[in-house]
Amino acid sequence: MKNDITVLFAQSRGTINPNIYGHFTEHIGGVFYDGLWVGEDSPIENVRGFRKALVDSFKKINPSIVRWPGGCFAETYDWRDGIGPREKRPRRINWWYNWDRRVESNQVGTHEFMDFCEQVGAQPYVAANMTTLPALHIRNWMEYCNAPAHVSTLADERAANGHEAPFGVRYWGIGNENWGGGGNMSAEMCAREYMRFDTICSSLPGETVTVACGANGHDVSWTREMMRTMAQKGVRPGALSVHYYCGTAGTPQEFTDDEWYQLLHQANYMQNIVDDNRAAMDEFDPEREVMMYVDEWGCWHKDGSGPSKGYNLFEQQSNMRDAVVTALTLNIFNDRCDVVGMANVAQLCNNLHALYLASGEHFVETPTYHVFDLYKTHQGARQLGVMNECGTFTPPEDKQRAYKPLDRVSVSASQAADGTVTITLANTDLHEPVRVTLRGAGGSLTGRALMRTLSSEDAHTCNTFENPTAVTPVERTIDFADGDALILPAASVTGVVITPIAQ
Ligand code: AHR
Repeated sequence: MKNDITVLFAQSRGTINPNIYGHFTEHIGGVFYDGLWVGEDSPIENVRGFRKALVDSFKKINPSIVRWPGGCFAETYDWRDGIGPREKRPRRINWWYNWDRRVESNQVGTHEFMDFCEQVGAQPYVAANMTTLPALHIRNWMEYCNAPAHVSTLADERAANGHEAPFGVRYWGIGNENWGGGGNMSAEMCAREYMRFDTICSSLPGETVTVACGANGHDVSWTREMMRTMAQKGVRPGALSVHYYCGTAGTPQEFTDDEWYQLLHQANYMQNIVDDNRAAMDEFDPEREVMMYVDEWGCWHKDGSGPSKGYNLFEQQSNMRDAVVTALTLNIFNDRCDVVGMANVAQLCNNLHALYLASGEHFVETPTYHVFDLYKTHQGARQLGVMNECGTFTPPEDKQRAYKPLDRVSVSASQAADGTVTITLANTDLHEPVRVTLRGAGGSLTGRALMRTLSSEDAHTCNTFENPTAVTPVERTIDFADGDALILPAASVTGVVITPIAQ
């Protein structure tokens, strides 16, 4: 079989927004408490309360944006609970209490979260409560965060709480999953609520992007109705979100061969989610002014596979299957950078498709973390077209979903302003390595190449507290000539960064 990949230098869908490499941190289970946050008085090394090992590791992948404080948690969250002296903050039975029996201590609130973002060099994306608080209350949160120093009482309160300068929060979600946990609204009702909030909130000075609640996965009718209701009033949201998770019955440690391919096909369905929801948006926004934010995505496995064995709600282990899902999903987003303006993998630590597992003194980078590291040079680069001649797997029969064939080698490419080319490849074949020839058309791939490959003898292997580096990338730097071949091990992810040699 011919296994050729040609990078098309003259074909581009634009710049890959760094926000596609975004993250999500919710107050749920073990994400914050004993995950990101250990507290300033902890014996665990920390930077103003945040786990230092995590901060140091996270910085290395250049995180662009972090969404907070939910998720569903956001829909019962009152921001005023999380400001002022920590010892005086209230304890609350929050949205997730019936699931995880945790009472929210509010030790991490607005100031702490903004500090975390500053420490890691990411922008904050705040998800505001549209379901249970009045619009004025949310507007006040925006004013508290963004009003210039000294201009208002809320700005003074921010200064009294330790931060004179505005936080400058640009991205605001208005509601979360309002088709479900955010109030079980109809699309029409959600659109009307969004417009009510947005009208009030946008009467503040300063530039913000407000994000309306989009579809649950492939619910294109929700997208259409939201857009139609807003269009009738001449309104376009700052952006429209969409959430999509994939999962199978098996656990990360126990999946079968069939479940490997099932999960990858489900992940590949992200193409349909983006393209079909975008087509519905196009009916009301043909100029494509409104970007799509996939502000929750990832694998959602059976609960209880993580180190806490179910204590941390939705905490799960991960391995090369999750890494390949990460890789092919990010390739899909790169290739749709003209319509996807942001994406946030759910969630950062001790939950779902996590980059980190942590507890007490233990801290582990998952295979998903390593994929983000392999892909980081795509951020802000110009996406390049790719001709992929490596074959496909036949999708499963499904009456509900028109799955597209899964590429044997999922790939995307980009070129940074300095000429550096990044090519990221995932071999989706569980058992067979692939020998791939890489060449450029309209440009050359000849240059010095940093090749990093993430793979494992057994795709079920996870990084654990006992063996934290079981799955870790192997790196080499070589002279690469246009048309050379590389071997992609079975079930692997490879990042190639080529610094071209001037011809
Ligand atoms: O990520 C966990 C939950 O999944 C979020 O709170 C919610 O938005 C989604 O259903």
